[in-house]
Amino acid sequence: MESLVNKNIILGVTGGIAAYKSAEIVRHLKKSGSSVRVVMTASAEEFITPLTMQALSGNRVSTELLDVEAEAAMGHIELAKWADGILIAPATANTLARLSSGRGDDLLSTITLAFDGPIALAPAMNQAMWRDSRTQENLDSLIGNGFTICGPDSGEQACGDVGLGRMLEPIDILDSFSSLFDQGVLVGKDVLITAGPTQEPIDPVRFITNRSSGKMGYRLAESAIQAGAKVTLISGPVNLDPPSNCHLVSVNTAKEMYEAVMHHIKDKDVYIGTAAVSDYSPIKSHDSKIKKDGSKSAMVLELKENRDILKSVSELKERPYVVGFAAETDNLIDNAKKKLNHKNLDLIVANDVSDKNIGFDSDDNEVTLITQKEQKLLEKQTKKKISNKIIEFISRRIND
Ligand SMILES: Cc1cc2nc3c(=O)[nH]c(=O)nc-3n(C[C@H](O)[C@H](O)[C@H](O)COP(=O)(O)O)c2cc1C
Repeated sequence: MESLVNKNIILGVTGGIAAYKSAEIVRHLKKSGSSVRVVMTASAEEFITPLTMQALSGNRVSTELLDVEAEAAMGHIELAKWADGILIAPATANTLARLSSGRGDDLLSTITLAFDGPIALAPAMNQAMWRDSRTQENLDSLIGNGFTICGPDSGEQACGDVGLGRMLEPIDILDSFSSLFDQGVLVGKDVLITAGPTQEPIDPVRFITNRSSGKMGYRLAESAIQAGAKVTLISGPVNLDPPSNCHLVSVNTAKEMYEAVMHHIKDKDVYIGTAAVSDYSPIKSHDSKIKKDGSKSAMVLELKENRDILKSVSELKERPYVVGFAAETDNLIDNAKKKLNHKNLDLIVANDVSDKNIGFDSDDNEVTLITQKEQKLLEKQTKKKISNKIIEFISRRIND
């Protein structure tokens, strides 16, 4: 079930006897590395408490379509956007009918209308209800609309009947649900990424920094997560939301970033250094604001060189696959190759920051990937697409 790593899954629970088994489904989903949000119908709450599902999923359970506490009171849209997949287990005959007719009269049915990814249903009902021609017609229509049906199983039922209609065992439901997702190219890999600038304090209100929005590092983190990796993102101060399912470590100074990297680097398979780390920081950081008293027309700031994080990582005895970035204004390829050799990197991603249409604050980028043996140009495209291609490139090198 590795394809469920880092996936955002909505588990819909409807009002059937098998609802007690949905608690076990949450546990399996969590164990597979997914984030789970549970949505329950009103009837489902008669069979299992939202509190149980909240405790197991670690997230608030949603039950109401009209929820004023949800952001902009649009919980159904937020949840549909958040999810990578929806599993409804158990799915009652009533819910099958509702979904097949495209109704949106409660939270769960509305989410399924607003969602365009994979949806799986695990029907559970009395054998006569299952055999009923209207239930079978609803199923045909759901299958025709792209829903995946898991089960049901046959055997003894809660009501004493014997036949087809029991919900499949949770582990079997998870098996077929997970097959709806691609297995990521970085499943099972641990990736450490640095992003953003650092800030080196001169006094409490001033600092030395580098220009960096952090966008490239955050996009790479997102791509690596989607590829199934476990990602730790060490970030300087930026105005970006971290991707879900990543371990974010926030730092300010180059020293803090160095220490955080050295603390988290153990057992990592890949290190990607996109952060624009200050090469120098003030020898003395003043405790109170330096005042302008008019007596000096110049001020001398003494700086010391900071430790080179990228080089320190590549010098480790048990080093990961090390990727650096070269932001250059002149002689892009030559300078990038020098950095590749000097810092003993596996891969360097070179980009020309003199071009205002790419790099830094822009959403687009154009980069050249350089290793000891190869040189590959990724022409101008969104940072998201570039980062997907970089992750794909890295995965091929480390999986060979
Ligand atoms: C004790 C009891 C058990 C039920 N079990 C099932 C069941 O296993 N499957 C089913 O389709 N309906 C079952 N029902 C009927 C549903 O609860 C009913 O159709 C309800 O409206 C379903 O609402 P929902 O689909 O919005 O959750 C049961 C009803 C009761 C009272």
